[in-house]
Amino acid sequence: MSSKKKFCETQKCLFVILVAVAAAIAAICVVTLTDENLREKRSLESLPWWKTSIVYQIYPRSFQDSDNDGTGDLRGIKERLGYLSDLGVGAVWLSPIFLSPMRDFGYDVRNYTDVDPLFGNMADFENLISEAKDKNLRVILDFVPNHTSNESEWFYWSERGHKKYKDYYVWSSGIECAAGCDDTGGRRPPNNWLSVFGGSAWKWSGIRQKFYYHAFLDSQPDLNLRNKNVQTELQDVLEFWLQKGVDGFRADALKFMFESPNVTEDETGLTDTFTWIEADNHNLTTNLPEVYNILKGWRAVLNKYGKDKFLIAESYGISHEIRDKYYESGSIPFNFALIQYLNKSCTALCMRDVIRDSLGGLNSNWPNFVLGNHDNSRVSNRFGPETIDAFNMLLLTLPGTPTSYYGEEIGMRDTFYTYNETKDTAGLNYNETQYMEHSRDPERSPMQWDDGLNAGFSNGTPWLHVNHNYQLINVKAQKLADRSHLKVYQQLAKLRQDPAFTHNSVQFVNISDVGGNDKTILAYIRAQKNSDKYLVVMNFGHQYANNVDLSKGAGSENGMVVVNAMSAYQKEMIDLKSVTLSRGQGLVIKVMCETDAMAHRPHAFGLTGEVQRKIKGKYSEELEQGARTWIEAVLEIELVPGADPNTPLGERAFQESLKNGVVLCNLMNTIKPGSIKKINQSNMAFKMMENIENFLRAAENYGCKKIDIFQVVDLYERQNMTQVVNGIYALGRVTQKNGFMGPSLGPKEADSNPRNFDEDVLKAGQTVIGLQAGSNRGASQSGMNFGKTRSILD
Ligand code: GLC
Ligand code: MG
Repeated sequence: MSSKKKFCETQKCLFVILVAVAAAIAAICVVTLTDENLREKRSLESLPWWKTSIVYQIYPRSFQDSDNDGTGDLRGIKERLGYLSDLGVGAVWLSPIFLSPMRDFGYDVRNYTDVDPLFGNMADFENLISEAKDKNLRVILDFVPNHTSNESEWFYWSERGHKKYKDYYVWSSGIECAAGCDDTGGRRPPNNWLSVFGGSAWKWSGIRQKFYYHAFLDSQPDLNLRNKNVQTELQDVLEFWLQKGVDGFRADALKFMFESPNVTEDETGLTDTFTWIEADNHNLTTNLPEVYNILKGWRAVLNKYGKDKFLIAESYGISHEIRDKYYESGSIPFNFALIQYLNKSCTALCMRDVIRDSLGGLNSNWPNFVLGNHDNSRVSNRFGPETIDAFNMLLLTLPGTPTSYYGEEIGMRDTFYTYNETKDTAGLNYNETQYMEHSRDPERSPMQWDDGLNAGFSNGTPWLHVNHNYQLINVKAQKLADRSHLKVYQQLAKLRQDPAFTHNSVQFVNISDVGGNDKTILAYIRAQKNSDKYLVVMNFGHQYANNVDLSKGAGSENGMVVVNAMSAYQKEMIDLKSVTLSRGQGLVIKVMCETDAMAHRPHAFGLTGEVQRKIKGKYSEELEQGARTWIEAVLEIELVPGADPNTPLGERAFQESLKNGVVLCNLMNTIKPGSIKKINQSNMAFKMMENIENFLRAAENYGCKKIDIFQVVDLYERQNMTQVVNGIYALGRVTQKNGFMGPSLGPKEADSNPRNFDEDVLKAGQTVIGLQAGSNRGASQSGMNFGKTRSILD
């Protein structure tokens, strides 16, 4: 111990340890804090529930099966209500549960006021509602007013020309056809209108000897909304469910509700396929203004049951003008901008523009955002699995009501199904080479609850098999883990109850103004008068973002990280003048006044987290992201006892450490972006990685029950990525409550600005892994740091 200490002294402790203790530079905070309880009370009292709730979409077939027939059901959902309230969502929207032949899995309704036996019965529904109420969860049903199933009674009678029903649907005799129309009574469709699911939107009925119009499958005939009886029938359906106590509706496919009454007219400029996201070229079949009156009628019905009934409308690709009309008519039109306009090439700057545009001109209309649903690929597949937390953070911290799709809270991924396994008719309408573009099965795979049979979804054979990754990605594992997507989501859900988030405006931080890359970093402030002030910052770039100065945007130099997409629950101080984020990392930072910041200083260290990621499979994936991420992976996963013989001081330190019951791992690498193969083949560290088991065993031998990581990885951007980077790791056990060892910020900072760590941060019995990194000086630093460690540990 003394030799280390001496070493330390002779070097004047220039490379003292860690970590980002927030600079105690005075900052004038623009925030005035008021009593928290008061504020909360006031805000909750004055806002309708849907302004403070996350809407969680359940695809009932895939959520939880209670009777082992392989399909999810209402009792299954009821069993999981506890999970949903723990998760922090306020409302569940159920995709259709009504009697249906299931050609479009419930979006083809046979009877709107019956529960399909596959999902249970009316008693099950009533139980679900009452249990949900007990748990303070709202229930929203999916209302499908544009079309019914061709097996509905209405259609049956319409097809047979029954007096009451004959005009319930959109019928046309078509046009006389010279040849090749024997199957269609010698006639052809009246126009060129297309079905969203492929081919003509007209289908011949041999019974009626006419064509009927279907915007979707030919088993989904469009209702004729110009018929007053149809309008009344639909209002009755709403009443029926409102009387059962539902809190609102998601209304399906509204832009298709009306078609031009002049069926002799063709649409122009059509391409072969028609996705329902698309808006152009369908001005005879979509977005006809007649829909607004219908909506007003529904709103009036809803209002009879209370002013806070929710009505959210599905309409893709609508202009702001149409959007505003939806609002005016008493509904909230889903804002699909994050689905429609974000893709892998949309930078953070582009995202900001998309969000701005979404919020543009809303005035007092309440915003909403949605990132995924049963018709679109999952977030993980659209943007990469490493961005899950950042996207959940985005969704849950933007203004307005967020809608979350089941499974996104744990980062579920699309599941591949072969053509033969495919169930979605939208996919099966195409051939084996095209079906994947159209099938929506991948995003509908069963919820992954645990690592047991069928991921805990069903003991029967699931209607769609579960994703093969369920043993890694599941609720149970993420509940147990110290850090996980689920936990980040929960934290965010809780946080967004804060009045800073329950209003409709957001203030973007202009990243390029503060020397950062606005293509990479998206940052904004959420605050309102008399509320706390939060800075949300996310790295959507492909690399690390280093030392971004957010102090100006935040109006303070001090902040406390309250949600960190890459860390455990622990709160940490952060220096807003220098914020560093890895790809996919997001932080919600409570902007602090100086006094506040000082009060929190003892917690001022870098990111912490339990060693979780010991999964080898993940390793190669991480490698792809470049050296920076790789170091992190090493930090988190792969530490083994051993010393690099090339670094004598490290070796000596290691010997010393062993004597003192501390393991030091010394790792020396040349890391260049893209040099991954080389690392794979020749690198010693890589070999170490194979020894993860050994490491963990060794750690156990030293009595390490909990391994905390203190991480200030700030290595090679500064060193230009081409230089040698040494990473030296130490594992130790804190025997007294007085400090710890951690990484140095590197020679430059360490020389000029030694940062001492506040005492009493670590508790006795905690295990510490520290990283020491610098260009050519890792070894000596390791010796020093080790000395320091020991002095702490002893
Ligand atoms: C909506 C639904 C989709 C369904 C279609 C027809 O777009 O979200 O799943 O296939 O309407 O009902
Ligand atoms: Mg229609």
